[in-house]
Amino acid sequence: MKNALIVSSSPNTDGLTAACARAAADGLTAAGVRSDEIRLTEYTIGVCLQCANGWGTCLGQHRCQVIDDFQSLHERFCSAETIVFVTPVYWGEMSESMKAFTDRLRRCEATRSVDRVLTGRKVLAVAAAGGGGGGIVTCLEQIERLVSHLGMKRFDLIGVTRWTREAKLAAITGSARLLGETMSEETT
Ligand SMILES: Cc1cc2nc3c(=O)[nH]c(=O)nc-3n(C[C@H](O)[C@H](O)[C@H](O)COP(=O)(O)O)c2cc1C
Repeated sequence: MKNALIVSSSPNTDGLTAACARAAADGLTAAGVRSDEIRLTEYTIGVCLQCANGWGTCLGQHRCQVIDDFQSLHERFCSAETIVFVTPVYWGEMSESMKAFTDRLRRCEATRSVDRVLTGRKVLAVAAAGGGGGGIVTCLEQIERLVSHLGMKRFDLIGVTRWTREAKLAAITGSARLLGETMSEETT
């Protein structure tokens, strides 16, 4: 069975981000894909310490020398066939736990010249914002850049607000279903 990982980063278990993650899981299930969710706020993930002159073991060994929950999550991320990122929009950016995780992930994975396991794997990203949705564009732009650095493939970027909730939850489910149905296919 195909597998997907949903990486979410809100502390609220009943908020908009959680609803978006559930919508994505529904779509993946409809496509026959097994999905797990990592709720990053439930883990201890410190910030990158910019070791030594700016590079630590991330550069040559593609592992982070700051030991916490990052190591196990890094492994789970790389084992997933496709990824769904779901973050609340904070200050027009991804939330801090998502930033801490993906900053360290990028250092380990974007520095590989061979064995780039993430290359071509598809990503659906959802940015969940407040009423007017200011900052959705910059948040999704930040995620798009991350996806590019990781060598992954942007499948869809969706912004959702409290105002557009119902319509966008349906869109997330639909997009996740399509992602699940096409995740191992080449798309140009
Ligand atoms: C620290 C912080 C910063 C925020 N910054 C923005 C923002 O820049 N733009 C926006 O539309 N909403 C912003 N919000 C609102 C959240 O994006 C919004 O409430 C979102 O639905 C939170 O997700 P949740 O329901 O999972 O908690 C911010 C909220 C917090 C706590």
